[in-house]
Amino acid sequence: LNAKLKILVCDPLSPKGISILKSIPNTEVDEKLGLSEEKLIAEVSEYDAFVVRSGVKITAKVLAAATKLRAIARAGMGYDNIDLDAATKKGVVVMNTPGQNAVTTAEHTIAMMMALARNIPQAQATLKSGKWDRKSFTGTELSGKVLGVVGLGNVGREVARRARGLKMEVVGYDPFISEKAAQEAGAKTVSLEELYASSDFITLHTVLNDSTNHMINSDSITKMKDRVRIVNCARGALIDETALLAALQSGKVAGAALDVFEKEPPAPDNPLLKHDRVVTTPHLGASTDEAQEQVALAAAEQIKGFFMDDMVINGVNVPSVSKDVLAALGSYIDLAVKIGRFLGQLGMEKVQEIRIECSGEMLKYDTAPITAGVLCGFMQKLCSESVNFVNAPIHAKERGIAVIESKKSEPGNYVSLVAVTLKSKDKEHLVAGSVFGRKYEKIVRFDNYFMEFTPRGHVLLIQNEDKPGVVGGLGTILGKHQINISQMQVALDAKRGRAISLVNIDTPAPKEVLEELRKVTNIETVSQMVL
Ligand code: 3PG
Repeated sequence: LNAKLKILVCDPLSPKGISILKSIPNTEVDEKLGLSEEKLIAEVSEYDAFVVRSGVKITAKVLAAATKLRAIARAGMGYDNIDLDAATKKGVVVMNTPGQNAVTTAEHTIAMMMALARNIPQAQATLKSGKWDRKSFTGTELSGKVLGVVGLGNVGREVARRARGLKMEVVGYDPFISEKAAQEAGAKTVSLEELYASSDFITLHTVLNDSTNHMINSDSITKMKDRVRIVNCARGALIDETALLAALQSGKVAGAALDVFEKEPPAPDNPLLKHDRVVTTPHLGASTDEAQEQVALAAAEQIKGFFMDDMVINGVNVPSVSKDVLAALGSYIDLAVKIGRFLGQLGMEKVQEIRIECSGEMLKYDTAPITAGVLCGFMQKLCSESVNFVNAPIHAKERGIAVIESKKSEPGNYVSLVAVTLKSKDKEHLVAGSVFGRKYEKIVRFDNYFMEFTPRGHVLLIQNEDKPGVVGGLGTILGKHQINISQMQVALDAKRGRAISLVNIDTPAPKEVLEELRKVTNIETVSQMVL
């Protein structure tokens, strides 16, 4: 290390982590907590690396202002506070430390559920204010009650195991977990509808993305048991807070335990904070000495390994490969992630097999990072933010998904081609992609549709009958709602008289717009994805 290395610690980090960072030769470590976007933009060009938790927001604007930033270590699991695509574009490696805080978060969930069941914070507040009130806080037993766990990843499964110890009956919903893995954690897998209908307590442990955003809303609450209790120690925006408040007021929801909020910190006048049947903590799920020490040590070691040994450990946006392989295969690895994301957003449940076939010039290199890229993209979006390039194959195995890799020397019309087939018991989808001119990533095939589609940003996937008027109808509706189309591909399956449109839009289309599109004559399905 010749030039001085500057590391900025942006969120509170355990002192042991700071000492490791300071032990990197010729390094200066600054701790500046709670910086606004503006301040970060002003400071970012000074630094080679950031260490963050969930507090600071590393936005596209911050990354655009970076000049020498090379790595961001997230001491923890979720990285939804980092604009991953902007980081990838800028060549900034993002690493997380998955797993280490799963037990701590599961324990907090159980603590919150118990506090909710027995009104502990409310009773304590009354007692501390000088009142001895033994009547207002009669609780409910957990024993024999049904706990619905939404998302059976690392944390969800730890919660299920502990709830069984409390003699609760545990049902779980996770479209990507095998029956066996759920059973090992003591959970019976059910559909989301069944979970809503049967649970006395519901706890959320799923990643936040477009399809899980506001999954707890007025509609889903209607499907729940009367007097259900809801626990959220995952991400705030999984719950529509307005709908939750209304359901608390009507009595449909008997209580909620919230560690996370749509906006953090929440506005002091957020009525949920004041509600007497809501138990709250300020995003403390991962806050134990043990977990904080583990994540800080891991993140700091990862930064050290990155700068001293050129090693990427737990890369979220890059695999651990040599610079040569990255230079040759980088665009294909990125494309593999996009293909994985595309497949992951087709709504296929109980996937049994992912078949990845590489062909052409890329076979000169080890194609393992392509496989990891597909799996990472496929699962990061949908099942858990604990997935990264390193553990993606393990996650697939845990979920009972068979990963089959194959090689073919003949790539057809392309220099190299990555073709991925997803199989469940009764469905199959294929997505293939190639890189044009070394850097232009394209999806060239989806099932029997051939195209040259740029997999980027917000995308509408529309399936329709091959009849005139569909594109016109689509354009009119998007135009009316001020949603700009930046690119569009129409592809035809002539044999079946079916067509699809893949439309790149500049801003996400709200649910109402999707509904309006579904009503256009000859349009059969409309879905939205982020690639
Ligand atoms: C996580 O994603 O790891 C948890 O939400 C914890 O976040 P924190 O590190 O900011 O406490």
